[in-house]
Amino acid sequence: MTKNISIVGMGYVGLCTALALTSKNYSIIPVDKDPNKIDIITKGSPPFHEPDLEELLLKATKNGLLKPTMDTKKAIADSDITFITVGTPSNPDGSINLKQIESAAREIGKALRFKETYHLLIVKSTVVPGTTQNVVGSIIEKNSGKTIGKNFGLCMNPEFLREGSAIKDALYPDRIVIGEYDKKSGDTLQNLYLEFHHNQAIPIIRTNIPTAELIKYANNAFLATKISYINTIANICERIPNAYVKTVAHGIGLDQRINPRFLNAGLGYGGSCFPKDLQALISFSKKLGYAPSQLEATHQVNEEQATSAVEKAKELIGNLKGKKIALLGLSFKPDTDDMREARAIPIINQLLTEDAKIVAYDPVAIPTAKKIFGDKIKYANSAKTCLKDADCCILVTEWNEFKQLTPHDFKQQMKEPNLIDGRRVYNPQEYSQQLNFRAIGLGPNKP
Ligand code: UGA
Repeated sequence: MTKNISIVGMGYVGLCTALALTSKNYSIIPVDKDPNKIDIITKGSPPFHEPDLEELLLKATKNGLLKPTMDTKKAIADSDITFITVGTPSNPDGSINLKQIESAAREIGKALRFKETYHLLIVKSTVVPGTTQNVVGSIIEKNSGKTIGKNFGLCMNPEFLREGSAIKDALYPDRIVIGEYDKKSGDTLQNLYLEFHHNQAIPIIRTNIPTAELIKYANNAFLATKISYINTIANICERIPNAYVKTVAHGIGLDQRINPRFLNAGLGYGGSCFPKDLQALISFSKKLGYAPSQLEATHQVNEEQATSAVEKAKELIGNLKGKKIALLGLSFKPDTDDMREARAIPIINQLLTEDAKIVAYDPVAIPTAKKIFGDKIKYANSAKTCLKDADCCILVTEWNEFKQLTPHDFKQQMKEPNLIDGRRVYNPQEYSQQLNFRAIGLGPNKP
């Protein structure tokens, strides 16, 4: 291994990137300001739910490949390459909040002052165009007394990791995007990736820094738009007798210019990335004097989509006051306990406004939900107990275990078998025959 690597910011992206590298025997110095995080990582216990994380963390800890520290100065001194993976949350107006990026850049700059040899800095955090050079680069120059391109290199290298498959995505990316300040910076990072993915033919895109920064936003905004698009088509299908959105998605997805992925109609997208990045891009674009109406429509459709489940519940059972509504699924997608921007949140808020009684079940996200809703809602310990005596059920997240439920389970447990399939997991033919069944994209006509 030619290079020593440090990674500043041990959130989701930082830790998953670190462990993908240690899985191929790179020695990594994880850096974080939070003593708890450093302590947890040092002990080898995973700070969040993610497939393969625990195993890789234990292995790396045992092999001594991870050397976690809070000391940025030492981390910079002991490495040649530093990835910056701190969070870039939203301000209340939707614009990007750069506090963590600025603070990391200051620390790195101060540490770099003592460094004699060339050091490459790579921004992996999602940042709006201009940030890597004008904010990170400038702060580092100011605090280090050194010059970009001469004493240190600078790249922007967006990440495309999905929660639930982050390690796999880091090991087998579709492509690698390198935004470079100069050729030396780009070559140094490209060489690292060529070594890391030595027998894989992965396309590498070399470009300038603002283009790389925009690729990340354009990517997430496009995927969000694809979802809002199919949800729009689903809403049209609901008004056409016997039109099936799943078949429409299949039909258009086979056009290679479209492709079938991210065409699942449902209650909309959530998570820590799509909603935040879309808002940041809209806000950034407006500051440039252009209101991106197409992106605003993507957001608007997503907002309306979640609460359409509550409208469907009202169509089925009338006034919701005092009615017991069972919610299956709380996390923003299956296989995670993450509820950031989860569609369950606006649905629950709307149901509370309507004075409904809510009982929710999720295989892993109940502790997260308790932090948000406390005792405003009730929590069940299984899908079947959640359904018990309910007037209506809304399936919010498509966990595998919910796919195993049969029409009989709903009929047996519920007071009235009213089911809204918010993620299109159930067969409408089978369910419509036995239950009062509504689904996203399914009109009132029985199939
Ligand atoms: C997303 C991107 O997929 C990653 O490439 C990116 O790196 C990441 O954001 C990020 O910026 O860090 P993630 O938020 O983990 O990853 O989740 P996705 O699997 O993309 O799903 C996002 C939301 O879209 C979920 O709520 C999911 O239920 C919803 N979705 C997805 C749909 O409603 N329909 C679909 O067809 C697909």
